[in-house]
Amino acid sequence: MTPRTIVVLTGAGLSAESGIPTFRAADGLWERHRIEDVATPEAFHRDPDLVLRFYDMRRAAAAAAQPNAAHHALARLSRRPGVTLITQNVDALLDRAGAQDVIHMHGRIDGALCAACGHRWPAPPTLPRTLPCPACGAGAARPDIVWFGEMPYHMDRIEAALDQADLFAAIGTSGQVYPAAGFVDVARMVGAATVELNLEPTAPGRFDEVLTGPASRIVPAWVDSLTAS
Ligand code: NAD
Ligand code: APR
Repeated sequence: MTPRTIVVLTGAGLSAESGIPTFRAADGLWERHRIEDVATPEAFHRDPDLVLRFYDMRRAAAAAAQPNAAHHALARLSRRPGVTLITQNVDALLDRAGAQDVIHMHGRIDGALCAACGHRWPAPPTLPRTLPCPACGAGAARPDIVWFGEMPYHMDRIEAALDQADLFAAIGTSGQVYPAAGFVDVARMVGAATVELNLEPTAPGRFDEVLTGPASRIVPAWVDSLTAS
């Protein structure tokens, strides 16, 4: 019987086969850039041009990438009532695959944010520090990305969805970073079934079910199994 409410959390592994490096693999993003240099508010204050160049590079990589079969399968699933898609990724590939109402808890690389007034607008391919805000005119543009030390976005919507979950799935995330890493525990507390889809199990015993393999293969099969029953 198909669960009534399904909450899906995705991480960098969902986009790995689209050519976007994950964070903590051998060739991961955090092997080439120190988090403290490019992904914290202090880094932006200390050297805004370095941080802006880092995100310009990630914006170009995301724009050049194509959604893979896993993104398309989750886009199909998102059109079912009772499905909430949460992503830690900032690449917007789920949206480009046609997924509806994706919750971007770490923001979007294709978005710009005015640090002065909070206005958001689509980011140009390269985001200069002095780009005037379309709303208030201040030259305080930053990537609309959640940095370490900042609160993730939309936690109220995420907590409301988890409270009602019958099934929670974590796809392509190492479960290293909170609060996302704790979502499975919240789901278990409300009695949801839990499943992990990943190249390999990240936390044996933490999920009721673990499906291993590349997302582009196992995610479409999993979605088909949900919509068939
Ligand atoms: P956190 O647990 O993610 O990080 C705590 C501190 O530890 C951070 O200040 C960071 O410097 C460090 N840290 C965390 N994980 C690390 C890792 N795997 N390797 C090395 N250092 C690590 O909690 P937080 O600081 O409250 O982060 C807030 C949110 O910002 C988190 O959800 C995080 O995932 C998010 N974030 C997003 C991006 C992005 O590029 N989208 C980058 C960094 C953080
Ligand atoms: N198919 C399925 N899973 C995969 C694939 C693939 N093709 N390739 C990699 N994975 C899995 C890895 O096994 C790993 O568990 O994806 C996970 C990637 O983990 P991380 O690199 O840690 O990425 P993520 O979990 O998304 O990081 C969480 O940390 O730095 C912050 O904000 C940043 O959103 C990021 C957060």
